[in-house]
Amino acid sequence: MTTADANRMLDVTLRIARFTPKPEKASRRRGGSPFARKSPFSDSGSPARSSRTRGKRWTQDYQVSVHANDSVLDCLLTIKRDQDPSLAFRYSCGHGMCGSDAVAINGTPTLLCTAKVRDWVKPDSPTFTDDEGFRPTGEPVDDDAHALDLDALEPGTALVIELAALPGFPTQRDLIADVDPMLDQIRRLKPYLEADGALKITADGRIDAFEYLQHPEQLSRYELLSNCIACGVCEGSCPVYAGGEAFVGPAAMIMVSRFLNDSRDAIADTRLESLMGSDGASACQSVRACSMHCPKGIDVGEELWQTIQKVDAARKARETAAA
Ligand code: SF4
Ligand code: FES
Repeated sequence: MTTADANRMLDVTLRIARFTPKPEKASRRRGGSPFARKSPFSDSGSPARSSRTRGKRWTQDYQVSVHANDSVLDCLLTIKRDQDPSLAFRYSCGHGMCGSDAVAINGTPTLLCTAKVRDWVKPDSPTFTDDEGFRPTGEPVDDDAHALDLDALEPGTALVIELAALPGFPTQRDLIADVDPMLDQIRRLKPYLEADGALKITADGRIDAFEYLQHPEQLSRYELLSNCIACGVCEGSCPVYAGGEAFVGPAAMIMVSRFLNDSRDAIADTRLESLMGSDGASACQSVRACSMHCPKGIDVGEELWQTIQKVDAARKARETAAA
């Protein structure tokens, strides 16, 4: 895209699925009832969460004049400042590092701050379709997959970008999804290194307790996985996840994969065992929709497949030992 194209002004409608929850009851604000119903599926034993909070839902259109190269987050900030301070959305870093601003744009889970207007505008017509298909394993994410040829548009074509909260999670308000179910699952699976604690000894016989040496090849096995920002885009793309009660979800499994691939970690057996429940590896249906939009370029479906194979091997070894 040339500088002139990037600076081109576009009149765009942002069509936003809005939601205002009903005020919470006081007992819920204090942490909920201790007799809350437990999930019939989850092995975590955590109380079941309602996937649909009650409240008022409606669709609202906002008109903005923006540069083609502006981000969708820029558009929302303009609307909030100039048109409607009640519009709710979440962001923090503004450049794809914190993962707090995942939403569905035109039905596709992605980050607001890295989504450019030029890549996501589409004609405001019910007959227009944006069929992106599936990304084959091993192919990089195509950031321009949604881009329209702006020069080919009829003059005066109305343009729209549709926004909704990240699917698969309860909506808290407007574009803010409650990602606590995902964070709970990640926490349950020990998202930290558990080294064996064996002391390293230097050449002259002294204790060198704080050094865990690795080869570059060992580092490269988990380096990409450690870039995961827990944005939830893969969970929002997964048709099985749906709130995490039946499946721990791709983000939690990527975190497990990260430590299974780390040569310093000493609790691989425990990590594999934690995925042997009905909501673990066996719940994944290998749809691989999770691979399509990861903003950090992780081929989530392939990593999950490799971890599922490790879980299966560990389960068979355990059954053989018990026989
Ligand atoms: S694997 Fe990718 S899409 Fe999934 S939570 Fe991590 S960064 Fe987000
Ligand atoms: S605001 Fe931090 S990733 Fe988008």
